[in-house]
Amino acid sequence: MANRIFAEDILQGKIAFVTGGGTGITGGVARAFARHGAKLAITSRKIESLKAMKELIENEDGSECIAVAGDVRDFTDVQNAIARTAEHYGSIDIVVNGAAGNFLCAANELSANGFGTVIDIDTKGTFNVCRAACEDLKKSRCQIINISATLHYLATPMQIHVSAAKAGVDAITRNLSVEWGRLGIRVNGIAPGPIEDTEGMKRLLPEALKDKITKRIPLGRFGKIKDIENAALFLASDAASYINGVTLVVDGGQWLQGTSLG
Ligand code: HXC
Repeated sequence: MANRIFAEDILQGKIAFVTGGGTGITGGVARAFARHGAKLAITSRKIESLKAMKELIENEDGSECIAVAGDVRDFTDVQNAIARTAEHYGSIDIVVNGAAGNFLCAANELSANGFGTVIDIDTKGTFNVCRAACEDLKKSRCQIINISATLHYLATPMQIHVSAAKAGVDAITRNLSVEWGRLGIRVNGIAPGPIEDTEGMKRLLPEALKDKITKRIPLGRFGKIKDIENAALFLASDAASYINGVTLVVDGGQWLQGTSLG
């Protein structure tokens, strides 16, 4: 297809397991992987959003997809989802950790459970999936991509829970790249900036502030889901075969201008 940036077969024969793969950024990544030859397993708490994404992948992207409902906070759920994927396809080559929780809340109003819930989804969920997939990834000598954010590079008001959670995700990326690089598993991350048409942005950014934020992005625009898809395709491809332990910031240079949300 003429508008393709990457060759159509860069992920041919690969099996990708994507958490939060029913919607948003990771839904886009799942579809991009499918259009470039990968077969998919997507997981999320809500089976309804998975069913819609499975249909899109199978009917529009021309690939195969299995949908497994599960909560990344629950290690047994995660083990089941990984086992079903390995059983169905015979291997797992790429894991994308995209499941994330988010809402705006001032630190002095946030409950301990609210803080812990986001840590559990983002940080513990990322560890759970990596841990459960390790044996399969070792066999195929493949890789993990963890989606984090730039919120914690400086400080982002109303986002203490997500900032702490995503800092933890970045730490997981670095630690595993060292420990598991030796097993042949590459571990990298992507830190998206403000990406339009996502649930995260709808929750975090009032439409009225969009112009103000846009002016503070050096590249002069919000990111698109496509920008993250392209970063993920690059990291997942053999073009990145010597890249390990990196979290690739995809934000148009925004975090260097100040906090992520205003
Ligand atoms: C304050 C809140 C809250 C809110 C939930 N809580 N929403 N506190 N303000 N708006 C608190 C609850 O009161 C409760 O604590 C605790 O969190 C758990 O809430 P539950 O509803 O029981 O939990 P659960 O249903 O398991 O999950 C809730 C959720 C989830 C984490 C809010 O529904 C969610 O995040 N959904 C959004 C998914 C999403 O948009 N993902 C994309 C993220 S984008 P108490 O003490 O009352 O028991 C992203 C990008 C960041 O991360 C980068 C941007 C630049």
